[in-house]
Amino acid sequence: MTDVFAPARLGPLTLRNRVIKAATFEGRTPDALVTDELIEFHREVAAGGVGLTTVAYCAVAPGGRTDRHQIWMRPEAVAGLRKLTDAVHAEGAAASAQIGHAGPVANAASNRLPALSPSPMFSPLGMRFMKVPNEFEIRELIDAHVRAARLAEESGFDAVEIHFGHNYLVSAFMSPLLNRRKDAYGGSLANRARLAREIACAVKEAVGGRLAVTAKLNMEDGRPGGLTLPDSLQIAAWLEADGALDALELTAGSSLLNPMLLFHGDAPRRAFAKTLPGPARWGFRLMGRAFLKEYPYQEAYLLERARQFRRELSMPLILLGGITNHDTMRTAMDEGFDFVAMGRALLREPNLLRRIQSDFTTRSACVHCNECMPTIYTGTRCVLRPVR
Ligand SMILES: Cc1cc2nc3c(=O)[nH]c(=O)nc-3n(C[C@H](O)[C@H](O)[C@H](O)COP(=O)(O)O)c2cc1C
Repeated sequence: MTDVFAPARLGPLTLRNRVIKAATFEGRTPDALVTDELIEFHREVAAGGVGLTTVAYCAVAPGGRTDRHQIWMRPEAVAGLRKLTDAVHAEGAAASAQIGHAGPVANAASNRLPALSPSPMFSPLGMRFMKVPNEFEIRELIDAHVRAARLAEESGFDAVEIHFGHNYLVSAFMSPLLNRRKDAYGGSLANRARLAREIACAVKEAVGGRLAVTAKLNMEDGRPGGLTLPDSLQIAAWLEADGALDALELTAGSSLLNPMLLFHGDAPRRAFAKTLPGPARWGFRLMGRAFLKEYPYQEAYLLERARQFRRELSMPLILLGGITNHDTMRTAMDEGFDFVAMGRALLREPNLLRRIQSDFTTRSACVHCNECMPTIYTGTRCVLRPVR
């Protein structure tokens, strides 16, 4: 039986265990640059025992941010990121940069740059139409991912996680609901998967063998007409055949159209509404219940879907979603997953893993109220965690 606390290979890396801190856009980057608070956030998670912590969000272009305070990968960001990766390494963990382009989830008003979407679409966040990239601009986007991966390497990261989920740009290209293009990047499933495959291969060519290259892939969007699980399985099989990725992290849902599928548990409608600008807040009053649906929480709530990927694929897989205790970690290992990733439980208690390691009966204090979700605008945190 695989021990979740035993060292494990991830591409060229050896991690001290099989637990990854999942990306939870941390904020704490007011000038789109690393701050001491962000360094401390990851140092604390690393000291808490994870094998790998994921720094989110590292946009590949300034217009690819969900707001302008997020880091975008540029030479000025390297010194701060280097301090961050040094701090994580000093605690014995490795560091991954989540790179990607938010696409239709980008806030054009905040970025003062157009959001991108595969096909014409109005952005309620930016209150304007999004820009549809042509094939030349798509090539530039692929190059932007390569540049971001190279900068991640320069910054001392051990891995990059490419964002192929949540209807961010690449995931939006996979969705037949959002992608109605007639060119080589739209239409058939193969065409809709093309951008993901080209980015994965280009990033691998740039940094592969030195950095681990992983991707966070939607198993389904959870919206009628969006990416379905059978289609995602086929995309995953192509990604596996391309051989560019060292592991796939499996997620579901859409930050744009169905965010609660990512999380399950309580829908923090009131707190979320408060974060929206005037007109969007009115829209949310009318549509909030449909937008923030409730999915009952249970441990490993994505396992049923992820099992189908485990059955079809031989590449390393990272199970995500409601992993908070040793029993669930053991289930994941028994079912053949190579790693587990944890988000909210580590926001609640960054040292949870150390406590689990010394006592397997330890239970998480996270109650999946999801009130951490709207804190992304003010410095991501667990609202139940005492302020020190
Ligand atoms: C506050 C918050 C911010 C998040 N930000 C990101 C992000 O920047 N990128 C991403 O891929 N997922 C993000 N997620 C989703 C998590 O990575 C993860 O998929 C989700 O929380 C489910 O895992 P969990 O049950 O362990 O929390 C975020 C989650 C939370 C709670």
